[in-house]
Amino acid sequence: MLVLATYDQVSAALADRDLIVPPTPAATTGVGWLRSAVPRFSSGATHARRRGLVEAPLRALVPDTLRRRARALADRPDTAAVEVLAEALGVAVDPAVVVAAARAYLPPVEPTPADDAAVASLVAALGGTWDEATAARACLLVQACASTAGLIRNALPYKDSGVPEAVLAETLRHSPPVRVLRRQAPDGTLTELDLAAANRDPAVFPDPDTFDVHRVGNHRHLSFGVGLRPCPGDNHALAIAAGVLEGSS
Ligand code: HEM
Repeated sequence: MLVLATYDQVSAALADRDLIVPPTPAATTGVGWLRSAVPRFSSGATHARRRGLVEAPLRALVPDTLRRRARALADRPDTAAVEVLAEALGVAVDPAVVVAAARAYLPPVEPTPADDAAVASLVAALGGTWDEATAARACLLVQACASTAGLIRNALPYKDSGVPEAVLAETLRHSPPVRVLRRQAPDGTLTELDLAAANRDPAVFPDPDTFDVHRVGNHRHLSFGVGLRPCPGDNHALAIAAGVLEGSS
């Protein structure tokens, strides 16, 4: 597999319309169904439609409200994001179900029957209909889960080194929770985009291995993606993570 690891290469690949997210096979249940019905693994008009289904509910959420709520959940850093978002979206679900459904969400992890059962429980909590609208709401919780928990985990050791915004920006640059993305060329060639390496490209971030909360330009990290399909939940993740850092003080 081709690996791109410089800042310019990774940024260019994420803006290249010829490179698509490798599609996942159609499936009617379980993790396979979730992958096949969300924006994350779709392209073209299907992606645009599904992206609209996740952006609409996200627009209705107020980051400051999420941040305030997350402060009270600082003793549960691994599930705070899921709990805050589920409450804000009006979904009654055990956070453990979302954590389980998220385990095998990203290929190439092979889903087990337990992972498929967790997705079925999540769909049931969302009303029980296996359709695109349900997949969109499920994907908001599933995508938020491990990534935001990872950000919080990586940022907590630095929580006293600056204001939450600065700590989180440098944590995302230095130790991104989503470390690689994959793309597929028209001839089927797969490319791995190494976000973690791009965030430590010395041409963009001098002395890149040093965690420097005062670093100028650390917000240029690629950890939320860029280009054609950046993370639509970046401000939500930052608000929740900031709340947890504040609540842990
Ligand atoms: C620190 C936390 C997070 C990180 C590091 C992160 C990272 C990313 C990245 C890198 C992508 C782009 C994938 C690609 O280009 O192939 C992405 C997509 C996405 N993220 Fe996040 N994310 C985080 C939190 C969230 C949250 C809180 C939500 C929802 C509330 C969310 C929802 C999504 C969705 C729906 C997509 C798919 C977008 C699309 O394909 O158009 N993420 N995320």
